[in-house]
Amino acid sequence: MLDNKGLVIAGVTDGRGRELPYTEGDADPEMGSPLTVTLNGARRIVVTYHSAPGAEALQWLSPEQTAGKRHPFLFSQGQPTLNRTWIPTQDSPGIRQTWEARITVPEPLKAVMSGDRLTPEGEPAARGRAFRFRMDNPVAPYLIALAVGDIAFQPLGPRTGVYAEPATLPAAAAELVDTERMVTAAEALYGPYRWGRYDMIVLPPAFPYGGMENPTLTFLTPTFIAGDRSLVGLVAHELAHSWSGNLVTNAVWSDSWLNEGFTSYFENRIMEALYGTGRAAQEEALSFADIESALKELGAAAPGTRLHDESGADSSGIVYDKGAAFLRTIERTVGRERFDAYLRSYFDRHAFQPMTSARFLADLRANLIRGDQALERTLRLDQWVYQPGLPANVARPEPRAFAPVDAAARAFNAGGRVAALPFAGWNTAERLRFLNALPRTLPKQRLAQLDRSFGLSGIGNSEVLFAWLKLAIANRYEPAIPAAERFLTSMGRRKFVAPLFEALAAQGEWGRPIATRIYARARPTYHSVTSTTVDKTLGGG
Ligand code: BES
Ligand code: ZN
Repeated sequence: MLDNKGLVIAGVTDGRGRELPYTEGDADPEMGSPLTVTLNGARRIVVTYHSAPGAEALQWLSPEQTAGKRHPFLFSQGQPTLNRTWIPTQDSPGIRQTWEARITVPEPLKAVMSGDRLTPEGEPAARGRAFRFRMDNPVAPYLIALAVGDIAFQPLGPRTGVYAEPATLPAAAAELVDTERMVTAAEALYGPYRWGRYDMIVLPPAFPYGGMENPTLTFLTPTFIAGDRSLVGLVAHELAHSWSGNLVTNAVWSDSWLNEGFTSYFENRIMEALYGTGRAAQEEALSFADIESALKELGAAAPGTRLHDESGADSSGIVYDKGAAFLRTIERTVGRERFDAYLRSYFDRHAFQPMTSARFLADLRANLIRGDQALERTLRLDQWVYQPGLPANVARPEPRAFAPVDAAARAFNAGGRVAALPFAGWNTAERLRFLNALPRTLPKQRLAQLDRSFGLSGIGNSEVLFAWLKLAIANRYEPAIPAAERFLTSMGRRKFVAPLFEALAAQGEWGRPIATRIYARARPTYHSVTSTTVDKTLGGG
């Protein structure tokens, strides 16, 4: 039985020309229609099929949607359950497979996939050029990924490099100069990188995520390119998934904190190793503030705030931030040295295997706690994993991380002058901290001063622009709408797009018409992941 969602199946054989009977089950809107093949003793099956034009994993971009504007582009996004729309496979994160592929594309396009790239320049084929790929490590099927376009490559280090459209490549490579050092730092923490190369591809702005940890080839949004490497936590994150996620994989999506929470913790450790404790402490504090605002919004008893979450809520960052806070709490309780040794052994013991919350807790008890009753009581493991909210033993971030920014925000909120703010001297994390601390009831003239003094509506840093636009929309600050419209029609990253449309829609008779008008233009440029989410707020196009 294979997963199948919308595949157009021409036939199934045993590979020697003998037809095998098959049936397609009832279609579930999420999961699709299982393809059941009767083996009749066959040990191999060959499915001949094509994907449907609307296959949700695939986004087919017109030349206008690329940086170069001359060639079309295609990319896939498998996680969590989309790969069944273009590959008939057993599409569960609890299953692993090796794979091989040969992809033929028209000249002058190139194809890259998330496995060893055996023919970097391609080889002559009947209708264009063919590229061959192989993944010898067993991986979960959601990690099979493909991108096709006018793509060039630039090496960054002995085993790292970046692919992008030629127009994007120089800026991408400059932003990513530290990647090789990140791989080395990650290995020093938790053991050898087991995937050969670590390359990345910077995709056109329609890519619906910040990043996707496709093995050997992380997929990245171009919106992380800030010019000052201030958003490369994203790269540390996707790299960390080479251990937490790709080596040890959540067996079910309701345990996705085992992928994302571990990875967010690991990301922060890589950032600390490269850039020091100050930057890591600031990023930890931003993440902690995100937990607090999520708990405030959802309520500390909301089922969606559990790490092991069967509610299907899935939209909050709780599995990332609370998951990381959980591991940090263990680290600070048992000491870093001991916890690092444990984590390293955890990745070794469970490499290339699925993991569940229950198995992780059993492993932790067997290999770290080892019957220490006092430690067991202190940690509150079951509460952390199975209960909503934040346990009382949570390790809190260093309050000094943002002390001067918090003081400046307090002074400003008490009526202080814009000219007194040292915004220009603040780094990205500090700017985000400041903007997120401002009230949603600012007078128009105060917003105008902020905008004018710091060039917020025209700022190139996507995270800072996003924080500013959230603030501006919540305050019904009309002069920021052209900037919001530019942003929403120039990229399709769901993390930015969905909250901005939600913020507009929440502003009733002022914001909803603006949202509807912008969405009518933007929707056709979005990946299904993004448009499906926004449709829930604004209705489909
Ligand atoms: N694996 C995720 C992306 C993902 C999550 C795809 C859920 C499909 C379903 C990726 O590693 C990720 O977490 N990306 C984040 C960036 C990160 C720095 C928090 C993103 O896309 O913003
Ligand atoms: Zn992730």
